[in-house]
Amino acid sequence: MGQDVQAAADNSSAAAAVEPILDVDGVTLQYKTKEHLITATYRVGFKVYPADRFVLLGPSGCGKSTLLKGVAGYMTPVEGAMRLKGREIHEPGPDRVMVFQEFDQLLPWKTVKQNITFALMNGGKCSTQKDADELAMEYIKKVKLDRFEDTYPHMLSGGMKQRVAIARGMAMEPDILLMDEPFAALDALTRLQMQEELLQLWEDTHFTVLFVTHSIEEALIVGSRILVLSPHPGQVKAELNAHHLNHSNVGDKEFSELQSKIHNMLFADRILEDELAAAEGAAQS
Ligand SMILES: Nc1ncnc2c1ncn2[C@@H]1O[C@H](COP(=O)(O)OP(=O)(O)OP(=O)(O)O)[C@@H](O)[C@H]1O
Ligand SMILES: [Mg+2]
Repeated sequence: MGQDVQAAADNSSAAAAVEPILDVDGVTLQYKTKEHLITATYRVGFKVYPADRFVLLGPSGCGKSTLLKGVAGYMTPVEGAMRLKGREIHEPGPDRVMVFQEFDQLLPWKTVKQNITFALMNGGKCSTQKDADELAMEYIKKVKLDRFEDTYPHMLSGGMKQRVAIARGMAMEPDILLMDEPFAALDALTRLQMQEELLQLWEDTHFTVLFVTHSIEEALIVGSRILVLSPHPGQVKAELNAHHLNHSNVGDKEFSELQSKIHNMLFADRILEDELAAAEGAAQS
């Protein structure tokens, strides 16, 4: 990983002068069940700077969601530390808002606008209903859902529900937006459209986002920086720059080369795992 991490650090203009918003420093996260101790991530480190679209990319089970849970304040590292704007993370807070993959993350008995105003009032972002209404409408417009503000979630498509969840997250104006595979359950066309819309929103407000995916293509399109994680337990394999890539580059030489480079990084582990399993099998027989 050394060269890639170095290259990313050198190229990141933000890295030189600006303090990171999020500093994940040698973090090991574990789950303790009655029978097992599961190490989900092992000594993972990365820094997210203002306006980064920072992507955690890795195969299923490598600890991407666990890392987000840690950053959100729901899990404490057994080793290392996580700091938000220099302060160690100990608990959840409105400065970090999560958007999930599931379509049912909205309150079904509240309208689009009420879902957002409810979060704004309860999260302490707004103290009056009028302020909450105004802020909610601002973000409903940003995700192009005006005309639907009084609609209930069950009358919306999957993509529209995700737009509401994104609007709700962004309206909280957190220091960092945490997105756990937010487009994974959408059909291919809607997914593409949502990726484009997210990039447009970012052009508009330059928010900071930590985005989880296991799609290499999505990571290259959405991400400005990509952290590639190895399979379980997740460890950092590489950190890459992709700030200059978007949909228009899909199929380009550079895009394809980066795609296969990442693919090989992830695939190399699978080959190694297969070899180790085969070797173990041979040793036992
Ligand atoms: N609540 C839990 N209790 C015990 N082990 C867990 C729990 N949640 C996750 N794990 C384990 O921790 C590891 C990392 O899981 P995690 O959900 O973070 O992976 P992921 O990278 O998000 O995978 P996916 O891409 O499938 O969402 C896995 O081995 C998983 O089985
Ligand atoms: Mg996950």
